[in-house]
Amino acid sequence: MSGSDAKEYFSDEDTVARWWNPEDCDSLLALHFKKQVRYATEQFDWMGKDVLDVGTGRGRFAISFALKGANAYAMDISREMLQLAENESVKAGARIEFHQGDAENLPYADESFDIVTCMEAIMHLPDPQKAIHELARVARPGAKIIVSMNNAISLTNFVLAVQFHVHLYHLLQKRPKIHWTYTTGRFRRFLDEAGLKIERSYGIGLIQPEAELYIIRGISLPLIPESFGRWFLESVEERFRLGEGSLQNFMKAVVFVTGKD
Ligand SMILES: C[S@@+](CC[C@H](N)C(=O)[O-])C[C@H]1O[C@@H](n2cnc3c(N)ncnc32)[C@H](O)[C@@H]1O
Repeated sequence: MSGSDAKEYFSDEDTVARWWNPEDCDSLLALHFKKQVRYATEQFDWMGKDVLDVGTGRGRFAISFALKGANAYAMDISREMLQLAENESVKAGARIEFHQGDAENLPYADESFDIVTCMEAIMHLPDPQKAIHELARVARPGAKIIVSMNNAISLTNFVLAVQFHVHLYHLLQKRPKIHWTYTTGRFRRFLDEAGLKIERSYGIGLIQPEAELYIIRGISLPLIPESFGRWFLESVEERFRLGEGSLQNFMKAVVFVTGKD
């Protein structure tokens, strides 16, 4: 499948809107997603900063930054997602300027922002290196850039061979490829190549409560009891700060906080 398939998928009127609702409390990933927003938001003082959130989805990061005083801009390739984000921002009382565009070709001038974020989105981009260069291009000298990625060798996938089943599933369904994973080493090289210096990184999800084993079409089995997954994420991972050490190389997602010289 080519990169343009992914862009077509995300530009479609309602494809992402159907599945992307990270604040949905019934979702097993809600806890994981909340941690990402909390971690990103506590990184900086946002007051008066010009901030761009790329691939904003329903706008949860941009809203959080705007409520902390940022001059927030949010962009996405999907018109439908932007409409949902705008509705959410009105409900939250957050002032955000929304734009439609492609992360691999950002519609902004060089050196326009103090902070640029791209969360849970780079994994949907066919050319992540191009997108990271774009994040760096629109950032001012001395700006900070926060990017999250999904790990190719997360412990759950590795031990339980879910990855294989997921690939098989996509193959059987002939679905367009819209999700790419990387090792943390490869991702670090993407950042390095764009001239971004990693200041901190934080992993989330050593054990994934939502992991499922695909059996046949329509039938999947949970791999980990939900209550155990939640307990591990909240109590063990959080309490022992597992995400700060080298175990992050095996976690579901890693957030990188970087700086531009
Ligand atoms: C999984 S959602 C994440 C949304 C948001 N960052 C969050 O964490 O809640 C991925 C988003 O990336 C957007 N996206 C996908 N490809 C894109 C592209 N080439 N340029 C800009 N946005 C894109 C999708 O439309 C979708 O809203």
